[in-house]
Amino acid sequence: MTKIEELDLQAQRIVRQAGKNAYEKMDNGYQVDTKTNYTDLVTTIDRENEQFINQQLRKIDPNSRILSEEGFGDKRILDLTGHIWIVDPIDGTMNFVKQHNNFAVMLALYIDGIPTLGYIVDVVNNHLYHGRHGEGVFKDDQQLTPPANLGLRESLLAMNRTLTLGDNPLLKRVAKEAMGLRMYGSAGIEMIGVLTGQLGGYISNLKPWDLAAGRMLAEELGLVVKSIDGSSINVLSSNLVLVATSQVSRDIRQIIN
Ligand code: IPD
Ligand code: CA
Ligand code: CA
Ligand code: CA
Repeated sequence: MTKIEELDLQAQRIVRQAGKNAYEKMDNGYQVDTKTNYTDLVTTIDRENEQFINQQLRKIDPNSRILSEEGFGDKRILDLTGHIWIVDPIDGTMNFVKQHNNFAVMLALYIDGIPTLGYIVDVVNNHLYHGRHGEGVFKDDQQLTPPANLGLRESLLAMNRTLTLGDNPLLKRVAKEAMGLRMYGSAGIEMIGVLTGQLGGYISNLKPWDLAAGRMLAEELGLVVKSIDGSSINVLSSNLVLVATSQVSRDIRQIIN
């Protein structure tokens, strides 16, 4: 087994375990705090999961660096050299708290900037979406085929709240042109939507941990992952990102440019 295959197996175990932890505790037994404002939540399970995942990653890949949302990773990661693990311990914390549904655990490994391993656990449905660079994308044991290359008028589009309520007239035109508009409240669950063809595209302001895993899996399936203006994304910064079929991406570009 290669080193990457070994890391892949271990990472699958780690994210499944973190998903199980969130599932078992989602009905009670945790505390909720706010961060920057009343809509920006963190729970003791976000922190517990991140500490668990990071501890495990340090054991299986001691020379790597970890970029994670809740502060237990390495500080100030400014370049992509070597192994960088990117961790979102619960994606969709608001859904975790309010719905007990539609949230995910996400993890990715970038090696010298190349998206190499990616994981999204759809916790409540108990599915792990995972992939290895060049080896395809799987839902548990079943390999995913790339979704049909539908255009904007034949597709559902997901967009986050800030963009939907914002006053960008071009994004409003994009949303109106789609067959329908959806807002799931978890980047991970929305990325799964694009991977499986339930959504033709997803547009959102994403931080590194919101984006890293979904980007890896989407690119592996031949989907487009770009800044909304068509430029390449930098996984270390916050990006206004489009994940879409190539036809949806072309249709959106035509409206925006
Ligand atoms: C959030 C969710 C949400 C997206 C936000 C993210 P979090 O992640 O993915 O759907 O709109 O931008 O921050 O904070 O729950 O991990
Ligand atoms: Ca958060
Ligand atoms: Ca997130
Ligand atoms: Ca999170």
